[in-house]
Amino acid sequence: MTLLRIRKSWQLPESSVTPESVFWNRRRFLKAMGAATIGSAGLLYGKSLTAGSPMMDEIAALPRIEVERNAKYSTISQFTKESIAAKYNNFYEFSRDKDDVWEHAKAFKPRPWQIEVSGLVEKPRIYDIDDLIKRMPLEERVYRFRCVEAWAMVIPWIGFPVKALLDDVQPLSNAKFVKMTTFYDPEVAPRQNDGLFSSEPWPYTEGLTIAEAVHELSMFAVGIYGHDLPKQHGAPIRLVVPWKYGFKNIKSIVKIELVENQPPTFWNTIAPNEYGFESNVNPQVPHPRWSQAIERVLGTGSRQRTLLFNGYADLVGHLYQTG
Ligand code: MTE
Repeated sequence: MTLLRIRKSWQLPESSVTPESVFWNRRRFLKAMGAATIGSAGLLYGKSLTAGSPMMDEIAALPRIEVERNAKYSTISQFTKESIAAKYNNFYEFSRDKDDVWEHAKAFKPRPWQIEVSGLVEKPRIYDIDDLIKRMPLEERVYRFRCVEAWAMVIPWIGFPVKALLDDVQPLSNAKFVKMTTFYDPEVAPRQNDGLFSSEPWPYTEGLTIAEAVHELSMFAVGIYGHDLPKQHGAPIRLVVPWKYGFKNIKSIVKIELVENQPPTFWNTIAPNEYGFESNVNPQVPHPRWSQAIERVLGTGSRQRTLLFNGYADLVGHLYQTG
């Protein structure tokens, strides 16, 4: 079995992370308490570990998800504190700032929610999100996350392989790319229509090659830190591709299309010279306006060297070998 190349330097200082033992003890505790009291237990957790806040109170009220952690993909034992990750978001539909996305997303309703999977497939389908979640093999994976803006974190996601969903609709042989689209509703996401930047091609779209999409690391996340995704992280379903820059990880998906040609994507359309379609994490390829050699570890003040493919080179390197 190939192991991920995680360096010792990745161990984050205590101040920024939730020790794994606390996380798992909490989950066992929640399970023992039963569903009726879970909300208040989550609240206690938020307050004791992160100094309670309206945002953490909202998160504590989200439904819990009990799944096994997949050890193969979870070689990092400490992850970024939830109170930090949930207040440092890029979700431009709601805000251009990071710390207030959760507030601007209040009117957004991630349920009921449907996802259309169509295009070059044998069996096009429209799924209700909760039916889809029941149908798919849910598990937890602790992945590194690297934004193109040179900050990094470690996140325990809950979700299922992209491949499991594609298998369900059976792509045709001429399908070469997977195009994904976020909801479009300027009434709840006013930035989609604020006219500030008329060049912004809403709704947000992203894409992968079929080989990338069916890769074992690619997942659709429906939960995080043991509960449903909060709105600011892309509820109710978002993409997670840990070897690529964060903007590829499209949030709040409503449509997945199998297509023959490389689809236009949000950032690649706005600035093709800055945000490529492939966008694999690579310390040697600088962004035109800054270096990618070093990354800032969220919540710690420390910096570390960026790893090729964000540390997943052993698993994904073969996808990009030429010649
Ligand atoms: N998806 C949508 N629909 N809209 C966005 O603005 N931002 C992207 C990505 N997915 C974005 C999106 C960027 S730039 C990043 S870094 C990640 O979401 C951030 O994910 P997080 O806020 O859950 O950490």
